[in-house]
Amino acid sequence: MSSGSGTPPRANAEQVELWNSETGPRWVKLERALDAMLRDVGLATMDAARVARGEQVLDVGCGCGDTCLELARRVGPRGLVVGVDISRPMLERARERVREAKADNVRLEVADAQVTPFGPGTFDVVHSRFGLMFFEDPAAAFRNLRRALRPGGRLATCAWSAREKNPWLTALASAVAAVVEIPTPADPHAPGPFGLHDGARTRELLSAAGFAQVEMNERRMLLQLGGTLDEAVAHCLQLGPLARPLAQASDDVLEVVTGLARGVLGRHVASDGAVRMQGAAWIVTAVHA
Ligand SMILES: C[S@@+](CC[C@H](N)C(=O)[O-])C[C@H]1O[C@@H](n2cnc3c(N)ncnc32)[C@H](O)[C@@H]1O
Repeated sequence: MSSGSGTPPRANAEQVELWNSETGPRWVKLERALDAMLRDVGLATMDAARVARGEQVLDVGCGCGDTCLELARRVGPRGLVVGVDISRPMLERARERVREAKADNVRLEVADAQVTPFGPGTFDVVHSRFGLMFFEDPAAAFRNLRRALRPGGRLATCAWSAREKNPWLTALASAVAAVVEIPTPADPHAPGPFGLHDGARTRELLSAAGFAQVEMNERRMLLQLGGTLDEAVAHCLQLGPLARPLAQASDDVLEVVTGLARGVLGRHVASDGAVRMQGAAWIVTAVHA
C-alpha cells in the first residue's frame, strides 16, 4: 500500500511515535526502577541464550542499555554487542551509560528490527528483554531476525504472558475504568506489552519464520512496583495502560485516580514498605535451523 505521496508507509509508525514522544522519555526518567524490576527475568533470559565470550549479539529494543552492558560483560573484549532501538531518547541514555562504563564492545543504532536489513548470518545471538512484542508484523520481524543469525545461532527473549497472570499491569486499569477511558485494542495480539502473550501463537510464528527447537518457559514472579506506596503509585500512573489516557486528564480526575491507585496498590505493600505484585512472562528460546 502506498501513502499516496509515493512514499511507502513507515513500518511500526505508531510505536515509533509512542517510544519517541511520551513513553521513551518516561522510561529514561524511571530507568533505575524499571531496570531493578526487570533485572531477574532479564538475567534468566540471558542465561537461556547461553551467551559466550567472543560472540556477536544483537540486542533488540535495547532501550536505555542495561542489557547491553551485561551482554558486553558476558561476550568480553573480543565479542560485540549491537543494541538497536526505535526510541532516540532511550538510545541517547544508553549511549551515556555505555560511555560511562567504557564499554568499547557495544555499538548502538537507531533501527527498526522488523525491517532493518542486518547483514545476513552476522550474529551468534539475537537477545531481547521485552522488546519483541511491539511489531505490527511479527512474522516479518522474526524472519528478519532469523536472517541476521548465523546457522545454529540462538534467539532468546522474554515477553509478558496472559493478562490475568499480570495484575501488576492490569489491576489498576480495571479499578479506574469507571473514571478514565482506557482503549482496549480489538486485536488481543496488537503491538504492546501483551503482543506475544499467547505462547502457542509465538511458537507458530517462530517456527514459520524458520526457527527450530522453540522452547517456551513461563516464569512467575513478584514485581517490585516501588520502594514505597507513593513511589509505586507514581510509577504506575506514568507507565503502562494508564499513562496515555492520564496525560490528558484534568487535575480532578487525576486526584480520583490517584486515590483509587493507592487503594489497589496499598493492598500489596510488603513488610519492608515496598509494593510488589504478581506477574508472569514467557522466556522464549529458539535456534536458527
Ligand atoms: C518494554 S521496552 C524494553 C526496553 C529494554 N529492553 C529493557 O528491558 O529495559 C521495549 C523497547 O523496544 C523498543 N522497540 C519497540 N519496537 C521496536 C522495533 N520495531 N525495533 C526496535 N526496537 C523496538 C522500544 O523503543 C523500547 O525501547
